[in-house]
Amino acid sequence: MATTIAGSRNVRDLSKPDEYGFKGLKENVHNGKTTNGFMKSNDLRNGDTDFGISGGGVPKMDWSKYDTFPGSFEKCTLLTAALTHLGLYILMFLGFVNQLLFTPKVATEKNREVCTCTLLVLRFAKSAAVREFTGTERRCINLGSYNYLGFAGHSTHDEVAAAARLYGLALCSPRAELGSTRLHRLLEETTANFLGVEAAIVVGMGFGTNTLGLPGLLGPGSLALSDEKNHASLIMGLRLARATVRVFRHNDVRHLEQLARAAIAERKWTKIVIVVEGVYSMEGTIMEGTIVPLGAMVALKRRLGLQLYLDEAHSVGALGPRGRGVCDHAGVAPADVDVLMGTFTKSFGAAGGYIAGSAKLINWIRQYGHAHTYAHAMSPPVAQQILAAMRLVDEEEGRRRLRALRENTHYFRDQLRRMGVVTLGHPDSPVVPVLVYTFSKMAATVERLTESGVATVGVGFPATPLNKARIRFCLSASHSRGQLERCVEAMARAVRELGLDYSRQPR
Ligand SMILES: Cc1ncc(COP(=O)(O)O)c(C=O)c1O
Repeated sequence: MATTIAGSRNVRDLSKPDEYGFKGLKENVHNGKTTNGFMKSNDLRNGDTDFGISGGGVPKMDWSKYDTFPGSFEKCTLLTAALTHLGLYILMFLGFVNQLLFTPKVATEKNREVCTCTLLVLRFAKSAAVREFTGTERRCINLGSYNYLGFAGHSTHDEVAAAARLYGLALCSPRAELGSTRLHRLLEETTANFLGVEAAIVVGMGFGTNTLGLPGLLGPGSLALSDEKNHASLIMGLRLARATVRVFRHNDVRHLEQLARAAIAERKWTKIVIVVEGVYSMEGTIMEGTIVPLGAMVALKRRLGLQLYLDEAHSVGALGPRGRGVCDHAGVAPADVDVLMGTFTKSFGAAGGYIAGSAKLINWIRQYGHAHTYAHAMSPPVAQQILAAMRLVDEEEGRRRLRALRENTHYFRDQLRRMGVVTLGHPDSPVVPVLVYTFSKMAATVERLTESGVATVGVGFPATPLNKARIRFCLSASHSRGQLERCVEAMARAVRELGLDYSRQPR
């Protein structure tokens, strides 16, 4: 008798050889195509190569014809690297002694409560454990949140309030049970149209879109070729999928090609998927601020018959002439990317995420990506906020915001270059990491900027390599030129006082 697991709609027959993702698809392969879901790797829409058979014989890529802009990188001098390491060990020793004798300063100062988006008020708490405030409040310009188009503070409130009145704040049920409303369906259709693909599924949490989506797509027989800077949600999703993961050097298509060819020669993978991001953020463990050479990746995956999973959390809405993300920016057809993933928490000023692509892919994820079945549905007012923001992106309002974001980004990057600091990333990336190298300079810069009324985020080891501590600035369309000038002044002061002008490039 067949044993089944039942989770509302997705009842799976465990008597079949494999209950996980693609292997299960083998049951339904018809003329090389699966009848019930995501395509197998040798069922290629974009290429004509069956990697399992001929991958090894496919001619090498000619990378010289692709613009593989690597971002602006400058090598750290030996002296800076040595001082950084030395500084860290001294700091660790002093920290250890300090901790024995006093409450660490970082524990009293780091606990900040914020409100609103472009301008924010920081209230300082005495400690993380006790929510007791010191009484200090500071008005700061927010240069650390991902509010790229400024929609987090935009007045779509009437529509959002109407949605809350009609549907309530929460549905208290997953989508597959009693959590689907007309708004969710509309949002999925609108997202698919916005991106220019057949279908989309929306999920209540951006992080969960990756962690619950990837296990629906990949299984133990799959190989993921993952960029070394990928976000924690992608890494966790791949782990949950129990896929084999091989990591390639950040944005290095040549290294990726090497790994892909070696994997093809092994002839044992049911599927090989490249997993990358559109714009690499300075968030969590993954950061860089560069834009992926997407055209080159698409050409590679076509030639070798691989698939491409692209996380557009930081690029959708913020990049490209029409705000469609990195495909729009790089001039790549969205249909050339097998799985488009993104979040609504940044450019759309809301919450949640999406996966978009072919109708088959989305049907498959609806069944086997656990979010639809087991996780709470997106809150209706949130869905309405996204719909309103997406509509505005296509109106004059949106075009104005996209222009403002680009101008603000270029202005700020240009001013930083003149100060002689080392910035990372593509000139169009609204995430602007500034290398300060040492951990102590990172903490001091954040402190100096906060005192000058600029709130931002410092990121250091273990989230970055030991000698690559940095300050992460995020630009927004809603920053006025006056606000950015104040930030530039504050940064110039910090650069002078802390000696952050490490760049040897012409100013
Ligand atoms: C690349 C990437 N993917 C996914 C996420 C998770 O998104 P969310 O913050 O909406 O949960 C983030 C978060 O910053 C991210 O940077």
